[in-house]
Amino acid sequence: MRNTLVAGNWKLNGSKSSIAELLKGILVGMADDSVKPNTEVAVCAPYIYIPHVQEILDGTRIKFGSESISEHDSGAFTGEISGAMLSDFACEYAIVGHSERRTIFGEKDSDTANKFAAARKHGLKPILCVGELLEEREKEITEVVVARQLDAIIELEGVEALADGVIAYEPVWAIGTGMTASPQQAQDVHAFIRSKISALNKTVAEKVQILYGGSVNGANADELFAMPDIDGGLIGGAALKAEDFLAICRAGK
Ligand code: PGA
Repeated sequence: MRNTLVAGNWKLNGSKSSIAELLKGILVGMADDSVKPNTEVAVCAPYIYIPHVQEILDGTRIKFGSESISEHDSGAFTGEISGAMLSDFACEYAIVGHSERRTIFGEKDSDTANKFAAARKHGLKPILCVGELLEEREKEITEVVVARQLDAIIELEGVEALADGVIAYEPVWAIGTGMTASPQQAQDVHAFIRSKISALNKTVAEKVQILYGGSVNGANADELFAMPDIDGGLIGGAALKAEDFLAICRAGK
């Protein structure tokens, strides 16, 4: 049985005080053990707040990570943050290939693969985001797109590398739009991802957590997480309020 993982992706939001309030609210809400023991909880924060998050979460059940990572280790790369730096502040996760990185900042499949490799190299678990645009779904090429995004990682690092990370299926049309994929739509893509991996390595396919992301909230999380191949969620908007995030954390299988 795979654990459920509920990971927050705060994006470009928060301040020192709002983050302290949010995390304290989540910790208080988790103190009654209403979040099942096999549900892992994590938050991915803007780089600059990671030391602040580390201080608040030290010794608690909530893990944390970054929203991106440099593909480079050190040197003349102004503005970048390396995997070693993130490990230095006890990060466990690094999101790679989020659709906002791909579409707004022009990160290609190969950049995402290099970032995935950099995270692994420094002992971080990459949360690899994959997902199709609305026009790609309408053209019925969702599986082609997702397969291409996965293949970039498999070709660079080998299929076994996927076991060191987490996959998040995030249909781009569902992100921040309130248009959640139906549980069956999501399950179909999750099952496709798992079967594609299984054709190469069954053990990896059974082990890897595949999260759903895209307008998850307290009202739809139960149904989504009940699907056999959905192992939790990557949560944007609803991760910014303690009560909303807790409602999703409590939905774990
Ligand atoms: P959303 O974002 O929950 O606000 O749709 C999800 C994400 O971008 O990871």
